[in-house]
Amino acid sequence: MSLDLSGVDLERVPRHVGLILDGNGRWANARGLPRTAGHLAGEAALFDTVEGALELGIEWVTAFTFSTENWSRSEEEVEFLMWFNEDLLLRRRDELHAQGVRMLFAGDMDDPRIPDRNRRHMAEAAEMTAGNDRLNLVFAFNYGSRREIARAAAAIAAKAAAGEIDPEEVDEDTVAAHLWVPDMPDVDLVIRSSGEHRLSNFLLWQSAYAEFYFPGILWPDFNRHHLVEAVREYQARDRRFGSARDAVGGN
Ligand code: IPE
Ligand code: MG
Repeated sequence: MSLDLSGVDLERVPRHVGLILDGNGRWANARGLPRTAGHLAGEAALFDTVEGALELGIEWVTAFTFSTENWSRSEEEVEFLMWFNEDLLLRRRDELHAQGVRMLFAGDMDDPRIPDRNRRHMAEAAEMTAGNDRLNLVFAFNYGSRREIARAAAAIAAKAAAGEIDPEEVDEDTVAAHLWVPDMPDVDLVIRSSGEHRLSNFLLWQSAYAEFYFPGILWPDFNRHHLVEAVREYQARDRRFGSARDAVGGN
């Protein structure tokens, strides 16, 4: 089915969309399958959504594929997610590269619990696609915003201690430049599937003025058509960034 872009203003698509992929386990449970089957089914949803982002001309997509809190899941599920994230990269990187997608990874890659092979394959995919500029696809892997901001603070403190930065001059741009993906723009639209209404430590700094969209469907049921619907809804909203403009009250 071709993508119905009616009612979408292609000049005003969100520049950066954040995706909180949620509901894989529930999708599997509802079918009497193990949770891991839900993660497997979520892959097609993610890459169909990426196709939609390419058609819409969205510049940045960040997908939350493994959080710093996900280590608390069962050993079996954690092991599966480590393997799956790596396997997915190896299977998808050529087609993404051919489509002009730049692959990036945001997360604590120094964590010794991440298998070396996985770390190496992430670095290879990033290197292979570094020159692409059609879509920046960020995998938020072993990602947690508080850790990201704490690491940025530590890096800035180290530079201040070494006399490379004047603490008086540390501002919002300095912090942004020390986050895991320094050239990542602010998030315009965060989509979280499954009916949950939480940010769960995802892009806290970057989504200060983001719009939120919460489709009630489980992640494996999400696709490019839902992305277009989210963009329509986004374009219908009045983003004021704290100013009053012609609105009455609120910010
Ligand atoms: C999201 O789905 C999967 C990950 C990104 C790890 P869940 O595994 O959280 O699914 P539910 O919330 O248990 O249904
Ligand atoms: Mg969940």
